[in-house]
Amino acid sequence: MADSPELWKATYEAGTPEELNAAYARWATAYDRDTLDHMGYVGPQTSCGLVDNYLESKDSRILDAGCGTGLVGENLTDIGYQQVDAFDYCEDMLAVAGQKDVYDKLFQADLNRLSEVDNNTYDASVCVGTFTYAHVGPRGFDELIRVTKPGGYVCFTVRDGAYQEYDYRSHMLKLEADNAWELQTMAHEPYLLKEQVVAKFCVYKVMEA
Ligand SMILES: C[S@@+](CC[C@H](N)C(=O)[O-])C[C@H]1O[C@@H](n2cnc3c(N)ncnc32)[C@H](O)[C@@H]1O
Repeated sequence: MADSPELWKATYEAGTPEELNAAYARWATAYDRDTLDHMGYVGPQTSCGLVDNYLESKDSRILDAGCGTGLVGENLTDIGYQQVDAFDYCEDMLAVAGQKDVYDKLFQADLNRLSEVDNNTYDASVCVGTFTYAHVGPRGFDELIRVTKPGGYVCFTVRDGAYQEYDYRSHMLKLEADNAWELQTMAHEPYLLKEQVVAKFCVYKVMEA
């Protein structure tokens, strides 16, 4: 169980983006200890291993969307990637991420409206833990596709439960039917080992527009 269960719970019960932001602001400095040590959080490690199977070069330029405290950036750096940019909505989470020195560019942005990033910029986008209860809805997929180059990859998690309750699956299928992306992997894997929480880990290839 999380050392600060009330802080974790608040992120799933937020009713508005402002409440969600405030919940992460309160959790930011305890987030790594809570998730990694107490909850067995393996989402970043598993996702980075998955996308690494598809990228041909460690020089690939990668976007970490909803980077939080930078756990994905740390994992990507550990396996050799050196060109990683990242953003998050919550300034306090970004402040923790900034201390890790794993990103080129680190900026505040909203995945629902990612106007800060040009079309076709990245070889891969990775988004872990952000398609879930009270966070970012399925339209976030469109933004990840837009900023990823054709032939590049979008890798993300969708937490079990939210996957069934929200509209993620139908939008994922619609994007496939529209030939916007092509499914490479969908694995049903542990996400929070000590909480018995599982998630879908997905990798899609972005198609030519
Ligand atoms: C569970 S954390 C995951 C953080 C990190 N990816 C990880 O795996 O540790 C979810 C993150 O999504 C961010 N977030 C929520 N809504 C967002 C939005 N609309 N745009 C960008 N980031 C958002 C939160 O601030 C938080 O840092």
